[in-house]
Amino acid sequence: MFVSENLSVNSAGHLTVGGVDTVELTKEYGTPLYVMDEQVVRNSLRRFHDSMNKYYGGMGEVHYASKAFSCMEMCRIVASEGDGLDVVSIGELYTAVKAGFPMEKIGFHGNNKTDEELEYAVKVGVGHIIVDNISELHRLERIAEKKNAQPRIMFRIKPGIDAHTHDFVKTGQIDSKFGFALETGEAFEAVKEAVNCKNVRLFGLHCHIGSQIFDIAPFEEAARVMLSFIAKIKSELNYEIEGLNLGGGFGIRYVAENDPKPFEVYLEKVSEVVKAECASLGLKLPKMFIEPGRSIAGPAGITLYTVGARKEIPNIRTYISVDGGMADNPRYILYGSEYDAVVANKAGEEKSEKVTIAGKCCESGDLIGENMPLQHADSGDIIAVCATGAYNYSMSSNYNRLQKPAVVFVNDGKSRIVVKRETLDDIIRNDI
Ligand code: LLP
Repeated sequence: MFVSENLSVNSAGHLTVGGVDTVELTKEYGTPLYVMDEQVVRNSLRRFHDSMNKYYGGMGEVHYASKAFSCMEMCRIVASEGDGLDVVSIGELYTAVKAGFPMEKIGFHGNNKTDEELEYAVKVGVGHIIVDNISELHRLERIAEKKNAQPRIMFRIKPGIDAHTHDFVKTGQIDSKFGFALETGEAFEAVKEAVNCKNVRLFGLHCHIGSQIFDIAPFEEAARVMLSFIAKIKSELNYEIEGLNLGGGFGIRYVAENDPKPFEVYLEKVSEVVKAECASLGLKLPKMFIEPGRSIAGPAGITLYTVGARKEIPNIRTYISVDGGMADNPRYILYGSEYDAVVANKAGEEKSEKVTIAGKCCESGDLIGENMPLQHADSGDIIAVCATGAYNYSMSSNYNRLQKPAVVFVNDGKSRIVVKRETLDDIIRNDI
């Protein structure tokens, strides 16, 4: 009935998340409100790392991609599950540092890291830095020398796989701002240089082929491409690459039609490919890293809004306006992303109409979605938008000087605030 398994209806006919009444949550914390179900986050992490143990002999690490949803409490939860973290800016890294996250389990990404970011990453001793380009390698060398450190690095490789089509294709894909190209020889030249660097240690290779991918075949193909490059490095440079990071990108269910494969199947298939390729190429099994973001945070979250205006435009559409919108969820205006919504205080009723849910920003495109099946919604009703845990809070803005919503975690039938709602004074805190 609902897109996420942790949603249900209680005897009052209200939507519940992780067993907690969403209408009660709005009374306690107000709207708009991000709600995250801690158990869903923990279960997803466990399914990934248990599968890594089962299918890859525990020779790997799951690094949650914190760009999907980051705050100190999320970092603490990931750490308590024994998993690692992918960070992509000094801000995400700082959040992890302040949360007491074990630095050796962090991979630091970014296609254009600043010196400040590299210096900070070296200072706090992140597990590895994923170097994106040759100038970054040179800058990192200088920084490491100055700090008398020898950071472990991976190279980000463009494996030439485009997973964002119906049937994935292998293309030139040189036209990407991320990473070193394989087919031009750029990646090999960079590896040749890095193996001779004194102040960094080339430990692994990384690729990430896209996001919200349902097929497993492109992940398998990416693993093959990467391993054949590792074999070339071994045979031509006599250098053993020890780590293989296959990125994230596993699709989730936003609407009923989405049919993601279980994470277990992904890890089973990809592990088989890595093992078979290593056997046939005569390589040692690399330590494997994966970086799921959306699949950990997305299904755990919902956003709760209060309905304000209802506007019926005969023969055209009905707008249901809520007290949030593109400032807390910019994914429809950016990507036309689909979501499922429920009137939380009428969750037991049939969805009787199709509506456009609009936000409150001064912009026509500020919509949560169009043609969305919904129970009849009137002013004062509560709307829950489902599967908003990833890339909503993390991509939120203060457009129109709106205050960012609070984030609440639910667990064991209880709720707790983990990010406070912004105040009006927060809005002007840097104004002079
Ligand atoms: N690793 C790397 C290097 C990445 O660039 C990403 C996502 C991930 C891991 C995590 O991918 P995931 O498992 O979450 O698909 N804002 C967009 C998504 C951008 C994804 C960017 N990179 C959205 O809202 O759909």
